[in-house]
Amino acid sequence: MKVSIIGQGYVGLSLAASAAALGYEVIGFDVNKELIASLDVGMSHVEGVDVPKSNYKATSNPAEINGSEIVIIAVPTPLDVERKPELKYILAACITIAENVKNKALIINESTSFPGTLRDLISKNIEETSKQNHLYAASPERVDPGNLIWNQSNTPRLVSGLTDEATKKAAAFYSSFCTNLVTVSSPEVAEAAKLFENTFRQVNIAMVNELAQISHGLDIDVREVLDAAATKPFGFMKFNPSLGVGGHCIPVDPSYLSFAAENVGIEASFIDLANEINLEMPSYVANRVANGVGGLKGKKVLVAGLSYKPNVSDLRESPSLLLIDALEVLGAEVIKHDPLIAGTSGIEDCDVAILAVAHDVIDKEALKKCAPYVFDCTGTMPGVHGL
Ligand SMILES: NC(=O)c1ccc[n+]([C@@H]2O[C@H](COP(=O)([O-])OP(=O)(O)OC[C@H]3O[C@@H](n4cnc5c(N)ncnc54)[C@H](O)[C@@H]3O)[C@@H](O)[C@H]2O)c1
Repeated sequence: MKVSIIGQGYVGLSLAASAAALGYEVIGFDVNKELIASLDVGMSHVEGVDVPKSNYKATSNPAEINGSEIVIIAVPTPLDVERKPELKYILAACITIAENVKNKALIINESTSFPGTLRDLISKNIEETSKQNHLYAASPERVDPGNLIWNQSNTPRLVSGLTDEATKKAAAFYSSFCTNLVTVSSPEVAEAAKLFENTFRQVNIAMVNELAQISHGLDIDVREVLDAAATKPFGFMKFNPSLGVGGHCIPVDPSYLSFAAENVGIEASFIDLANEINLEMPSYVANRVANGVGGLKGKKVLVAGLSYKPNVSDLRESPSLLLIDALEVLGAEVIKHDPLIAGTSGIEDCDVAILAVAHDVIDKEALKKCAPYVFDCTGTMPGVHGL
């Protein structure tokens, strides 16, 4: 069976690898020609995912997707400058499909978007141009980069089509590499569930970050409070304080839900407040550090861990970058240290060291010794200042 995947980023390449390993004939289409050139020589840009050696062709020629039985959309769904859904990548993917897939195919959307995207945007846009009546299904991707326990095969996958036939075909495809399929009654339920999962994380992270600020004001150790609360065996789920949220999903997806809410006249106040609290964390940390050392003007501050979460090199929406800006605004000279990111400095003597993200490869003993004032945002360095 020929399967084409539109977008060969984190999601598209991971899916291509799973499908090619099972013997599907996989076409990985991407508009980024440099990316295609590196995939062509077997160079993967996704940590932990190898470029398939057989049953796979990376291409920037859209004509190659013709004849596919399944076409999967895995393109970015970021926010625009007004923090509203940026749908241009999805719309471009629709044009590519409409103009190039001449046979009847099953079109699946894996990109994260608001309820109604499959029905009102994707299927309508494709059907306007296409001469075919395709089948349509939504199956929002849940992959968690760097997670060694939950992967594409054991993470339950939501699936729903616009018709029963589409649902059945999509379910048959995913069940070939995913052991736990959950079919829901409409694509809108699948789309909303995906957004709510990430909104749940965003709101809870914001709430615990607020608690970190309150606890500091009350001179109580927030981590001890959380450990104590977590002894309750029911009705409580522990989240940890941090520098904020980053990556492609948690800071972005909830705004898709608030956009959908706004369209039906409902204010998503939780989401807006959570965004505000999380985005404020880097300057909260910068100010706490500045107060701890009597101001940062002219001081050398080492920030360790630049990516948005431990053990990945992804810098997208990373709160560490906001922390660096906030420290510089306060007059600090910032040294950036991240063993996973090329071109950053090593650990060196300075006035302040801040552990922003705790990669396993960061030498915490050296970090502890490199400055008289050390601040830990991660809860992994006992005995120093921190959240
Ligand atoms: N990265 C994650 O951890 C993750 C997890 C779950 C869901 N998602 C969602 O999956 C979707 C894809 O995310 P990603 O992380 O893979 O993005 P990405 O930026 O890593 O990759 C997207 C790829 O799509 C390509 N592209 C853009 N427009 C295109 C077009 N018109 N035709 C063909 N290719 C095009 C880009 O060149 C890029 O290589 C997003 O909606 C995202 O929210 C991502």
